[in-house]
Amino acid sequence: MTTSQPIHENLELDFPQPSKPRVLLAASGSVAAIKFESLCRSFSEWAEVRAVATKASLHFVDRSSLPSDIILYTDDDEWSAWKKIGDEVLHIELRKWADIMVIAPLSANTLAKIAGGLCDNLLTCIVRAWDYSKPLFVAPAMNTFMWNNQFTSHHLETINQLGISLVPPITKRLACGDYGNGAMAEPSEIYTTVRLACKTWPPNTHSSLVIPVSSNLPSS
Ligand SMILES: Cc1cc2nc3c(=O)[nH]c(=O)nc-3n(C[C@H](O)[C@H](O)[C@H](O)COP(=O)(O)O)c2cc1C
Repeated sequence: MTTSQPIHENLELDFPQPSKPRVLLAASGSVAAIKFESLCRSFSEWAEVRAVATKASLHFVDRSSLPSDIILYTDDDEWSAWKKIGDEVLHIELRKWADIMVIAPLSANTLAKIAGGLCDNLLTCIVRAWDYSKPLFVAPAMNTFMWNNQFTSHHLETINQLGISLVPPITKRLACGDYGNGAMAEPSEIYTTVRLACKTWPPNTHSSLVIPVSSNLPSS
């Protein structure tokens, strides 16, 4: 599906709360974004899905392979949708539309930006505007050297305080050939984690959804 329709029409903001949760899936520039299509297909079974991709992630996401009913938004859409005062602002509309956000993969760069409150692209603007009474999950994916870097635990602690839930990475042979922790959890695992956390839909309270990250921090 293209993004040529008005945002308002795409996001169906005038419609009552749907029976299906509205899940915003986002990919950042980790090589694990090659699995984004699989993630989209998993969530499509259960939820209304919209997708967001950073510029770097588009090196790994095969747009043509995504399910045809899923709109993929990029930074270009943010600006092509806005021409004058009074026009809708895409990151705000997506933030209002989504019941749940899942960033998978989460790159080291986007993790750092979220932890620092930076918002220089569509994905990070949505997070910067996020309503933390709604669940937000992240599945980091990075080389073991990056994962074990002290910045990672600092940034994870910060986003944990915001109420963001971590789907921890796994240990395996990485795309670069190194063996170690930092690979993104499998899409099926990410999907199962979100489904279990959100099994009573709509949720009563956000507190029941938070999976503390403290026991999953890198060792350094
Ligand atoms: C081939 C290649 C693979 C990369 N893989 C990863 C990765 O797995 N994890 C990561 O955090 N960064 C990875 N990077 C670096 C990010 O793409 C880079 O930091 C980029 O600025 C991330 O942008 P984004 O966070 O806006 O998507 C990779 C870069 C290249 C060139």
